[in-house]
Amino acid sequence: MEKIIEEHQQSIQQYANETGVRSDIHPDDLIFRFLIENPVFSSIDLAVKYYFYDGAKSAEKLKDLLFSQLGLKQARGTSLLEFASGYGCVTRHLIGELNPVDVVPCDIHDAACSFIESKMDVETILSATNPDDIEIKNDSFDAVFALSFFSHMPDRTWSRWLKALFDKVKSGGYLIFTTQGMTSRTYFGDPEIPDDGIWFTASSEQKIWMWQITEILLLQPNTLNVLLKIR
Ligand SMILES: C[S@@+](CC[C@H](N)C(=O)[O-])C[C@H]1O[C@@H](n2cnc3c(N)ncnc32)[C@H](O)[C@@H]1O
Repeated sequence: MEKIIEEHQQSIQQYANETGVRSDIHPDDLIFRFLIENPVFSSIDLAVKYYFYDGAKSAEKLKDLLFSQLGLKQARGTSLLEFASGYGCVTRHLIGELNPVDVVPCDIHDAACSFIESKMDVETILSATNPDDIEIKNDSFDAVFALSFFSHMPDRTWSRWLKALFDKVKSGGYLIFTTQGMTSRTYFGDPEIPDDGIWFTASSEQKIWMWQITEILLLQPNTLNVLLKIR
């Protein structure tokens, strides 16, 4: 991976400049690896471009959701926990895009947290394997954002993670997370969705989230889920 990163330094730098972020890529960055090994891209250059532009798009989308649609203040004092931040594919964009909001990345990998701290100049929180062991006080963030985390969690811990992350949200704040959603349903052979609203397949560990309860505001029913904390 180091070699590929080195060989494509020019395009990495170019797309980082175009999107206005740091160009550093960690060799263990799973998202970067996934993209450059993905046959959907006809060249590594296109995969690198996607890495930077898609990260930028996610950050812009979240900005619009937080401030235009949900009415949080883009001001000092507002806080966002970016849960499962990985090696900063989106983090690098969030920091500038949401400025001056306090963005706190959090991941299970120590190396990912150290990388983000050293390259992106923000403090991170190291997560835990068990949802009950995360060292974050309850009711401490205006928003908690988890991109591509719940779609990888096995059934046995899925709802425990949902509760644990929702607990970290302040009253009046939001838990925002992505799932595969109904669009993906057709790719999995149109399965019957159980009454609890979550369909799971062990082979892919993908889920389709179909809950329709009052506390959940489904802004984009297929991929983005928003829970408002009302107590
Ligand atoms: C598919 S990646 C998503 C990365 C990032 N959100 C993005 O979209 O670029 C899933 C991430 O979940 C992280 N993860 C897995 N278990 C975790 C846990 N218990 N606590 C925090 N992060 C975890 C992994 O380390 C990985 O970075």
